[in-house]
Amino acid sequence: MSPPLHERLMELAISRGFLLPSAEIYQAPGGFYDYGPAGAAIKRHIQERWRQLFITEPGFLEIESCTVLPQPVLVASGHVEHFADPVCECTKCKQRFRADHLLEQKTMQSWAGKQPVELNEGLLANQIKCPACKGDLGVVGWANLMFPTSIGAGGDNPAYLRPETAQGIFLDFKRLFVQQGSKLPLAVGQIGRSYRNEVSPRQGLIRQREFTQMELEYFFNPAQDKMDGFEKIKGETVRILPPADGDTPLAEQDIRLADALQQGYFPNEILAYMIHLEDRLYASLGIPKNKYRFRVMPRDELPHYSKGNVDLEVQTSYGWIETSGIAYRTDFDLSQHAKHSKKDMNVTVVAESAAASEPGKPAPAPPTTRLVPHVVEPSMGVDRTFWCVLESAYRPAGEGKEWEWFAFPPAVAPYVAGVFPLMRKDGLEEIAQELLTALRAAGLEVYYASSGSIGKRYARADEIGVPYGITIDYETKEKANEPGGPTVTVRFRDDGAQERVKISEVPVLLAKWAKAGKVRKG
Ligand code: GLY
Repeated sequence: MSPPLHERLMELAISRGFLLPSAEIYQAPGGFYDYGPAGAAIKRHIQERWRQLFITEPGFLEIESCTVLPQPVLVASGHVEHFADPVCECTKCKQRFRADHLLEQKTMQSWAGKQPVELNEGLLANQIKCPACKGDLGVVGWANLMFPTSIGAGGDNPAYLRPETAQGIFLDFKRLFVQQGSKLPLAVGQIGRSYRNEVSPRQGLIRQREFTQMELEYFFNPAQDKMDGFEKIKGETVRILPPADGDTPLAEQDIRLADALQQGYFPNEILAYMIHLEDRLYASLGIPKNKYRFRVMPRDELPHYSKGNVDLEVQTSYGWIETSGIAYRTDFDLSQHAKHSKKDMNVTVVAESAAASEPGKPAPAPPTTRLVPHVVEPSMGVDRTFWCVLESAYRPAGEGKEWEWFAFPPAVAPYVAGVFPLMRKDGLEEIAQELLTALRAAGLEVYYASSGSIGKRYARADEIGVPYGITIDYETKEKANEPGGPTVTVRFRDDGAQERVKISEVPVLLAKWAKAGKVRKG
């Protein structure tokens, strides 16, 4: 029997320079991965695509906040009290396990959000023992997920590595609001590392202790929760998994955004619009639409700050995994920070119904109101999304080629093209280097390979999913002075077919084809 896809894919990811186990020579604890050259490029491209969709809307800003936060911040946010997983310890070997995960493996159903009492009953009813030594499991308790640290030498300034990028945005909100003209809505995003001291990191990139998030906090007046642009996209269809009706699970359904909103699956238009953006993002990353769904979270699973959550879940070789959560955080965070810091988080904004001026009289000053803004937050894990991109693009040997390869969309691929002089002599390398320089000057990410047979170089390019290979051969050199200039061969990744094009046109053609997603000649 062949191993599960994720095992094979992890082997390939490590051998082909996508991923590296962090601190491997010291047999470091699990849950940490480095990105190799091809992986770091793909990750960056996913982040750029997110920026293009989530940050370039007018009035949307990007910041970069600190990853170490003083303890009072995380007391206020509720993370010190609530950000914990249910854990039980083996009475014999002392290993610790996630109680809900043990139950999920045994019963094949979700135990997310259950309290320790229910989990204890579940462990007993299902006669679950320690997976490592078969010893008896102790009572389930909570284990906080944050990494504690302290600021300064004395250790008397407790702090934590941030468990989410969001808190930095809430802390900076007041200044940003004023700098941006004291107007709502205001959307602030950031991409950065977060840290969670998982009890049992597992499933490669899916449950890591250090990972990258892309988060946007959309601040708005709760009396004005309409979203510009929603009218245009409200007819789009997405796949929804509704919450269970009591104990009865409901089936997935393809539903228009407007209808899902009307049926109460989403708390407001803003959250529905964020679903539309995530849907666009995933389409552009090459994740097939029939492989993901938006799961409306049942009340008993909601995080402590949320009045409504919709998770983006992707079907992978690990099963369904959550790659994003969109939360209606209300005014929870700003109000908590106001209470704990004793700083006013109210803002003054123009009230919804400004009175019309009477003819001949100067317009009255518009009425204003004081409020703590509400927030909708789309939060996406970059590493999990990266894994889904890898799984979606993977092609086993025999599917179009004799080797395993990756069919990344050009916008995500680690490089747009490889530049290959057929030989390292007779002046071919000089021409190839000139082309390389021209392509880089045009802003294209390309790499250079001059050793090995040309067939091997094409195969290596396929193995990391590079869409185009450009070969400089003797015809390029011999016809250098012909009208129209010399030509090179462009090989397309997906069908391996080739086309002869003028060397001077290569930068423009590659940019055009990459934008259009053209990956085969035919
Ligand atoms: N900001 C939401 C989360 O990190 O889960």
